[in-house]
Amino acid sequence: MSTKRRKVIAGNWKMNMTPSEAKELVKNIYAEVKGTKHCDVVVCVPAIDIPAVAQAVRGTCVKLGAQNVHFAEKGAYTGEISANMLKDCGVEYVIVGHSERRQYFGETDETVNKRAKAALDAGLTAIICVGEQLWERECGITAEIVSRQTKLALYDVPAEQLAKVIIAYEPVWAIGTGKTATDEQADEVCGIIRQVIADKYGKDAAKKIVIQYGGSMNAKNAAGLLSMANIDGGLIGGASLKPADFAVIVKAAQ
Ligand code: PGA
Repeated sequence: MSTKRRKVIAGNWKMNMTPSEAKELVKNIYAEVKGTKHCDVVVCVPAIDIPAVAQAVRGTCVKLGAQNVHFAEKGAYTGEISANMLKDCGVEYVIVGHSERRQYFGETDETVNKRAKAALDAGLTAIICVGEQLWERECGITAEIVSRQTKLALYDVPAEQLAKVIIAYEPVWAIGTGKTATDEQADEVCGIIRQVIADKYGKDAAKKIVIQYGGSMNAKNAAGLLSMANIDGGLIGGASLKPADFAVIVKAAQ
């Protein structure tokens, strides 16, 4: 049995691009990555851009993702967006627990778990973000932090749903800073995450799960990172807004 995992390259546009700019950007991205078969290409766009981008990517190899999802099915949650609303717009992926949400919007391990479950129950693929802060790395507790975040995010998530789970290892100190983890550092932590999956779901599940690296991945360092045994793709912020750079990263996944 081949255990080769399909790589997933996902752009995280964060709070950039109006709907009309988004349409233009995704058109330019598609022009660069057209015909890509060796990996999945995803763009995770601001919620308000979803309809415009959904229309632009229909019938192409570019898949659509959101950046957050609420955990309730519906109800009195002013300003929030449910998994079913995303699905209805053609969204297939959703980022959950990005460090910016943990840092600025009160996201906790508990709400990450609830959001992941809501996404999975609706049939979305959840890109669950974990990662240590700089002082946690300096204290030598990276493995502990990342294992804990992974375990809590997957609390009560059944094995049958694991095929729709992607874990993105994003060291907080590497996000938007231009400071990337070395290939070895990133691979080591992705390996630790894979071991957490093995302990909880078994070796086979651990072999299959897609684990991305994110944090200043760019056209220059992508090939090295993506060649590591435990790294199955990237979650890309800054460089995903530059179609030519993003395309280099997509090619590097080959
Ligand atoms: P960056 O962002 O590539 O700009 O560091 C990555 C992320 O936040 O997902």
